[in-house]
Amino acid sequence: MGHPVYFIGAGPGDPELLTKRADKILKTCPVVYVPPLFDITFAELLKNKETLVPFDFYFEELVQKVAGQARQVPVAFLVPGDLAFFSPFQPLVDQFGDQAVVVPGVGAVNAASALLKKTLDLPGVCNRTILASPRTLGEGPGAPTMQDLAAPGVSLIIYMNNMPLDELVTQLRQGYQQNVPIALAHRIGLPDEEILIGSLDDIVNKAHQRDYFSLNGPGKRPALTLVLVGESLAAITDGSWWNYRRDHIWKVDQNG
Ligand SMILES: C[S@@+](CC[C@H](N)C(=O)[O-])C[C@H]1O[C@@H](n2cnc3c(N)ncnc32)[C@H](O)[C@@H]1O
Repeated sequence: MGHPVYFIGAGPGDPELLTKRADKILKTCPVVYVPPLFDITFAELLKNKETLVPFDFYFEELVQKVAGQARQVPVAFLVPGDLAFFSPFQPLVDQFGDQAVVVPGVGAVNAASALLKKTLDLPGVCNRTILASPRTLGEGPGAPTMQDLAAPGVSLIIYMNNMPLDELVTQLRQGYQQNVPIALAHRIGLPDEEILIGSLDDIVNKAHQRDYFSLNGPGKRPALTLVLVGESLAAITDGSWWNYRRDHIWKVDQNG
C-alpha cells in the first residue's frame, strides 16, 4: 500500500493554529499539496519540501501522482480549516481509503468564535447553530434560502457567501424577524485579518461598499469571509447557568 497520505487540517491560515499532531506529521512529509495562500503563510514549515498545488490537476491525474509519490514517501495535503465542513478533499480521502489519514484542524468557524470571544450556542439565547452556504443550497423553486434558515434562536454560520451583502441582509432580516447581530470575519489568521461587527440594520453601512465576498472581481473563488449571525454574538451572560449546571450536572454526589 505504501506510505500514508495525510489530510492535515491546516487551520484558517496562521501556522500557529496548527495542532501539535499536525505539525509533527507535516515534518515527516517530504511532499506536500498546498492550496494557494498557505504556500505563503506556511513558507517556513514547507522549506525544503516538494510542494504542489492540488487544484492544478484533474482528479484522476492527481490520484495517480499521489499514489506514485506515496509509494516512496509519506504525502500530505494541507486542508484549509478542517475537513468537517465544506471541504473539497473528500473524494481523495475516499479514494485512498485505509491509506488516508485525516488530521483534525481548527476550522474557520472555531477561529472566528475565538476572535469574537463568543460561544455560538447559549442557553436561553441560541438553541441551535446552522452551518450553510448559499452556493450549496441549490437553485430552483424548491431550494431553501438563507431566509428559510434564519430564525430567532439560530446562530447561522455562512460559508462561501455569493450574495451581495444588502440582499443577504434583507433575507436574514425576514427570517429573523428582528434586528440581530452579524459579524463578517475576513481573512482570519492572515496578516490582514479583519472582523466587522454590526447588526442586520447597520452592517451594510458599516461595510462601506467593500467587496468582502469578491463578488466584483474576475475570479470565481469564494472570498475568505465567514459570516456569523445571531443573538449569541452580542449576548452577555451571568453565572446562573454555571450554577445550575454545578447543581444538576457537575457537583459530585457525596452519597454516591
Ligand atoms: C471551501 S470552504 C472551507 C472551509 C474549511 N473547511 C473550514 O473548516 O474552515 C471556504 C470558506 O470558508 C470560510 N473560510 C475559510 N478560511 C477562512 C479564513 N481564513 N477567513 C475567513 N473565512 C474563511 C469562507 O467562508 C470561505 O469562503
